Amino acid sequence: MTASPAAATAPVASEGEARAVLSARGLGRDFAGFVAVNNVDLDVHDGKIHALIGPNGAGKTTVFNLLTKFLTPTAGTIELLGQDITRLPPAKVARMGLVRSFQISATFPHLTVLDNVRVALQRPGGLAVQFWRSLSSLDALTPRAEELLHQVGLDDARDRLAGDLSYGRKRVLEIATTLALDPKVLLLDEPMAGMGHEDVGTVSEIIRTVAKDRAVLMVEHNLTVVADLCDWITVMQRGEILAAGDYDTVSRDERVRIAYMGTEHE
Ligand SMILES: Nc1ncnc2c1ncn2[C@@H]1O[C@H](COP(=O)(O)OP(=O)(O)O)[C@@H](O)[C@H]1O
Ligand SMILES: [Mg+2]
Repeated sequence: MTASPAAATAPVASEGEARAVLSARGLGRDFAGFVAVNNVDLDVHDGKIHALIGPNGAGKTTVFNLLTKFLTPTAGTIELLGQDITRLPPAKVARMGLVRSFQISATFPHLTVLDNVRVALQRPGGLAVQFWRSLSSLDALTPRAEELLHQVGLDDARDRLAGDLSYGRKRVLEIATTLALDPKVLLLDEPMAGMGHEDVGTVSEIIRTVAKDRAVLMVEHNLTVVADLCDWITVMQRGEILAAGDYDTVSRDERVRIAYMGTEHE
């Protein structure tokens, strides 16, 4: 025997088959008999940006709530980094590295931009857990906070009050406070909502940068952004997955055109 049969038949690892950092199988949730999410399969990969799209009421936010364990699934399983998290509480899941933007993104308007990030860095489960409750913690966190501000392009706003920032830059600050937890999987629910053209471009660049060494799953209505930014798209309709694939694939799908693009895009 020179080669084992297993080696001969071993699957070739392709991008699509690489192990997902976050995956859901048969995910479902109903509310008093109303099926909000049904049989959803999802794989989110490191270094990739995955979009969840679909008309209002399709179940996108409910899927986010299920993945982060804000809601308990009525069906299906969820795995994070190879571990079954279906029954784990939200705080545990967040500490394992699955973080949703608004989860910790409430910014404090009367604190400076820098202090907002330093406070975020102090949270248990954050990078600076070793400094938790230490009096010298804030100063010790300054270099890392400045690094995060630089990453999102807020260096020049370092000493301004968060409440004085424009809407778009507040959202950017929220992303910085989320990144303070160094999430392995970052969930963004409509990160560009309500933003002007320029801010959309800025936030797109930030997401592209932060996705280089983590997985991003985002709900986004702006299909130009989705086409430009996302490696994989899952389309939902009435709680179920209608289609999945890259932008070209899903945008050519007739059912997607009818269900989503025909009604919501332009
Ligand atoms: N807590 C809840 N109780 C009852 N129905 C809900 C609840 N949360 C969501 N739903 C329903 O589930 C469906 C999907 O909602 P949602 O996930 O918010 O959709 P999307 O984010 O895609 O717009 C909607 O019909 C909504 O009314
Ligand atoms: Mg929603």
